[in-house]
Amino acid sequence: MPAIERLAAATRSAPLWSKDDVTVIFVLGGPGAGKGTQCAKIVTDYGFKHLSAGDLLREEQDRPGSEFGEMIKSYIKEGTIVPLEVTIQLLENAMQATREKDNKSLFLIDGFPRKLDQAHAFERTVVPSKFTLFFDCPEDVMLERLLNRGKTSGRADDNIESIKKRFRTFVETSMPVVNEFQTQDRVAKVDATKGADEVYEDVKKTFKEWDIKPITLKFVQTQ
Ligand code: C5P
Ligand code: MG
Repeated sequence: MPAIERLAAATRSAPLWSKDDVTVIFVLGGPGAGKGTQCAKIVTDYGFKHLSAGDLLREEQDRPGSEFGEMIKSYIKEGTIVPLEVTIQLLENAMQATREKDNKSLFLIDGFPRKLDQAHAFERTVVPSKFTLFFDCPEDVMLERLLNRGKTSGRADDNIESIKKRFRTFVETSMPVVNEFQTQDRVAKVDATKGADEVYEDVKKTFKEWDIKPITLKFVQTQ
């Protein structure tokens, strides 16, 4: 079955799910801020399903026969934002699949929304988010991390040309999303300059403040 069989999400007039049924935390931060690294830690302790918009787009780009492959490729290379209909449908499909397969309703949506129109459309047609976890990191730190990652990531956009464009897109297009959510008191900002473990300590504090509880481990008694 094609990953995108219809682009209906953006035209729906009411959200597919309510906030009571599905919990979404948006994870934002500049490229190289450590979103993916922190999400992996959160998944282990809190049982969320991690969905990276960038990963879903790369997957769709590489899917044989995708009508969106070439378009996605050029947007990613230029560090610009893929039209919202595609990204929202990919996210919605992945959420649907997760709910059917794992019966999960906790989602960390990483690298999304990167533009105000995406934020508005997602909350209007899929589900309103609980809050946005924002990893705040200066560009010099992110640049060093990305150049390091570029040695092994194989990503077409971990090179200095694309990185500069991604930084620019982040400041001009994605920060307005963070700022708008901030005016609604729906942003938790974490300093992402430090090492991954230290940053994660702050993430845990933030989750506590937002009343998100770690999964309790069930020990199997042998005797
Ligand atoms: O989050 P990540 O760095 O993996 O994203 C890579 C690229 O994917 C972005 O620079 C952008 O071109 C595209 N993207 C997008 N919309 C999103 C997330 C990623 O267009 N919400
Ligand atoms: Mg990522």
